[in-house]
Amino acid sequence: MRITMIGTGYVGLVSGACFADFGHVVTCVDMDVSKIERLNSGDIPIYEPGLKRLVSTNVAEERLFFTTEAKGAIANADAVFIAVGTPSRRGDGHADLQYVYAVAEEIAQHMDGFTVVVTKSTVPVGTGDEVEAIIKKARPDADFEVVSNPEFLREGAAIKDFKIPDRIVVGTEDERARAVMREVYRPLFLKESPIVFTSRRTSELIKYAGNAFLAVKITFINEMADLCEKVGANVQEVARGIGLDGRIGPKFLNAGPGYGGSCFPKDTLALSKTANDYGAPVRIVDTVVDVNKARKKAMAGKVIAALGGDVKGKRIAALGLAFKQNTDDMRDAPSLDIVPMLQEAGASVVAFDPEAMGEAAKLLPDLELAKSPWEALDGADAMVIITEWDQFRALDLERVKNTLNGNIVVDLRNIYRPDNMAAKGFEYTSIGRPSG
Ligand code: UDX
Repeated sequence: MRITMIGTGYVGLVSGACFADFGHVVTCVDMDVSKIERLNSGDIPIYEPGLKRLVSTNVAEERLFFTTEAKGAIANADAVFIAVGTPSRRGDGHADLQYVYAVAEEIAQHMDGFTVVVTKSTVPVGTGDEVEAIIKKARPDADFEVVSNPEFLREGAAIKDFKIPDRIVVGTEDERARAVMREVYRPLFLKESPIVFTSRRTSELIKYAGNAFLAVKITFINEMADLCEKVGANVQEVARGIGLDGRIGPKFLNAGPGYGGSCFPKDTLALSKTANDYGAPVRIVDTVVDVNKARKKAMAGKVIAALGGDVKGKRIAALGLAFKQNTDDMRDAPSLDIVPMLQEAGASVVAFDPEAMGEAAKLLPDLELAKSPWEALDGADAMVIITEWDQFRALDLERVKNTLNGNIVVDLRNIYRPDNMAAKGFEYTSIGRPSG
């Protein structure tokens, strides 16, 4: 199969590299010249475990190509994937589809022979119809099908998620297009990964419904954590107790500082807008959006309370800035609420993150950045764990105590044990668990 991937952002790059690794010939197109130059020189613009090696192997074996020239790449392709961004439109939260539609125009200009046009970008219900209309209008005689094929990749685990997916969703009722998609995902068929063939609109909705459901699940356990704190219960044990019920399942029940990232905040908002437009509001999702926003802000209050209610003149060490571990992504990260609120309350904040400090420096210009966790902790009045990086899970606690000025630890990811921290002499606050 000859596959063309338009857009070399997170989804496009991971998907393109994985398709090449399946043995297809993949051309990744991006109009950003410097990005393509970087990729061609083997430099990967994002941090994703395993991606650099996957890209370099497939480039070396001549299955993966990067170019700014869409024309030839589209003309030669059996399947053209649209993997450009669909950010929240400023002001109203609707997904901004201008990039998707611009790509549709471009595909219409250059396609040659039967072409399957696949939307990988997360797009609202009905976008496939619009893409089809755009191409038809520009090229009434073109032979093509528009298919929805949403991605379910988690940052930090994207290659595994791509190669061992829980399921693949393909939205098209056209048999020729289904045959091409079967071929595209053939290596996964051999592994018997479940594949859901459905209509285009259903497929588009599956993506939003899936992400919104997960956001509901996280927000539910976060509110349970607040309740646990009031009644003296332990949210991790509540999560285990309910998660063993097969109908609920144990995953995505880690209480924390609120969800962030490139998908959940944007997709919940977009789903809510679509639902309102169609007169079928998703009130549970609307509430989750509000509760999650408030939660991120409330985390700063939790830190301030742990420091006795006043942080004026205090120095706070923040460990982790990315929205979760194993990524340099800062989009909608809880740290973007927590750090400025602590600073506004009069604290100075010094932070360390293994990968996200470059991004963080742009978004949090007043934040002091340290070269290591120890440099951040040196002389600080409290250690606050914001992101659950593995390297923060087994810190030498004696050294932490000797490096900090005092003994206050706020763990917003529950990566330490309250009884252990108490035994080591820390004043330890976590999420939804008794202090120990
Ligand atoms: C998510 C979806 O999982 C993926 O299927 C989709 O394609 C894109 O969005 P991602 O945003 O990379 O992936 O991260 P994920 O691991 O799902 O975490 C999202 C947010 O929820 C993070 O802020 C994370 O810290 C938070 N989270 C997750 C929790 O607070 N508790 C949990 O139990 C799980």
